[in-house]
Amino acid sequence: MTTEPTTPDKAPSEEIERPIRRPEVLSTCDEIVGACRVLGSDRATLGLVPTMGALHAGHLSLVDAAQAECDHTVVTVFVNPTQFGPKEDFSAYPRDLDADLVALGQHGVTLVFAPSTEEIYPEGFATYVENDGVASEWEGACRPGHFRGVTTVVAKLLNLVMPKVAYFGQKDYQQSLVIRRMVADLNMHPEIRVCPIVRESDGLALSSRNVYLSAEERLRALALSQSLRLAEQLVDDGEGDTAVIERRMRQLIESVGGVALEYIALADPYTLKSVSEIAGPTVAALAARVGSTRLIDNTILSGTLSDLEFS
Ligand code: PAF
Repeated sequence: MTTEPTTPDKAPSEEIERPIRRPEVLSTCDEIVGACRVLGSDRATLGLVPTMGALHAGHLSLVDAAQAECDHTVVTVFVNPTQFGPKEDFSAYPRDLDADLVALGQHGVTLVFAPSTEEIYPEGFATYVENDGVASEWEGACRPGHFRGVTTVVAKLLNLVMPKVAYFGQKDYQQSLVIRRMVADLNMHPEIRVCPIVRESDGLALSSRNVYLSAEERLRALALSQSLRLAEQLVDDGEGDTAVIERRMRQLIESVGGVALEYIALADPYTLKSVSEIAGPTVAALAARVGSTRLIDNTILSGTLSDLEFS
């Protein structure tokens, strides 16, 4: 018996790939303010996704969230020098604006702000947003001045774009708290949305810095997410003593070798103060160096990101 060839249901024209539109790229503050005013007229909502470029699927998940929720999405690409310490990787930080624009075009973004350093920090620039409280813990202790640089540039980007919602990734969990604090303290208006960490299939949290890892270092780096999975498993099994959980995480990381821990913390997800018992949603976070690459990762124990309530 022969089978008749089947006729496709779809007309061929429906299958034609549409050309991907490259986003418009603006580089001056005046231009982005003007463009955002036009976009925001008629009560259209603007979503802001601030990035340092070298975009990966984690960034693009923020873009997708903004696209789903807002009428227009503005993505900023700016490697912000003030959030890097003098011995950190500012000059080596990966930069590929062309690839970023292709990815953003594929995700339907039409407007990108990619300023120069001089545009954001012109000669005579002298005003910074200082922070205390949650900014003093973890990254604040390991990277003095880091959050001052982050909040200064994010405040400027919020002032330029005036978004309804600004999107950040959970991988920089502490950063999202510091930004929420700034927005509340300075009576700024945007809503802050935090989107879940995007991971490789083997658990490694996506990070622009992963490109620095050799194949062998990348394998060792899996110890970070594995230790967080272990913490989740221990809590699921009824372990509530954070000292026990932290010890087991350290043991796992040390058993892999080649991973220099900077901190492990099990803490209140709002204040980042250490807790001794798991009595509700708790953030487990860690930072470590694998070779010369500094990586961070975190998870919410006894709950999820969406269980957290921020006013
Ligand atoms: O998370 C980042 O990529 C940066 O800290 C940010 C928020 C874009 C500020 O430079």
